[in-house]
Amino acid sequence: MMVKPDGVQRGLVGEIIGRFERKGLRLVGLKSMVPSENIARAHYDVHKERPFFPGLIKFITSGPVVCMAWHGVEAIKVARTLIGATNGRDATPGTIRGDFGMDMGYNMIHGSDAPETAEFELGLWFPEGTMEWSSDHEKWVYES
Ligand code: RTP
Ligand code: MG
Repeated sequence: MMVKPDGVQRGLVGEIIGRFERKGLRLVGLKSMVPSENIARAHYDVHKERPFFPGLIKFITSGPVVCMAWHGVEAIKVARTLIGATNGRDATPGTIRGDFGMDMGYNMIHGSDAPETAEFELGLWFPEGTMEWSSDHEKWVYES
């Protein structure tokens, strides 16, 4: 997951991390950076032919982002449910974009959309790897 420059500028980093924590996901990687053009282009390579691509790259490289790696059962699906529809105006209240967003481009957060893209994106943003640790309270998050 990544809090995009608009989410950082609006002071929503704590709110967003808090939602994933409270849901029961485990934080296994966290860093902040101003993305280079290279990393932004690689991250959004799938959209490189789309008309919004140049603007998207300009936006993502415009300031600090916060990159996170989260662990949990069906974490990708769960995270995308918490994030909500791409356009904040269409996103359901209770989701991050539904509660805080009014725009398609400025939608505050990115979430990987499949195991293969998550693996690719983790390699891109966390080349050093992520943390292995166990959370004591997880025994109260999952019944078994
Ligand atoms: P993301 O990849 O950022 O988590 O968002 P998503 O899956 O909900 O949306 P996706 O279709 O992958 O699009 C990637 C990002 O490109 C921007 N976008 N702009 N102007 C437009 O028509 C348009 N369409 C997409 C959004 O910032 C979107 O999050
Ligand atoms: Mg996407």
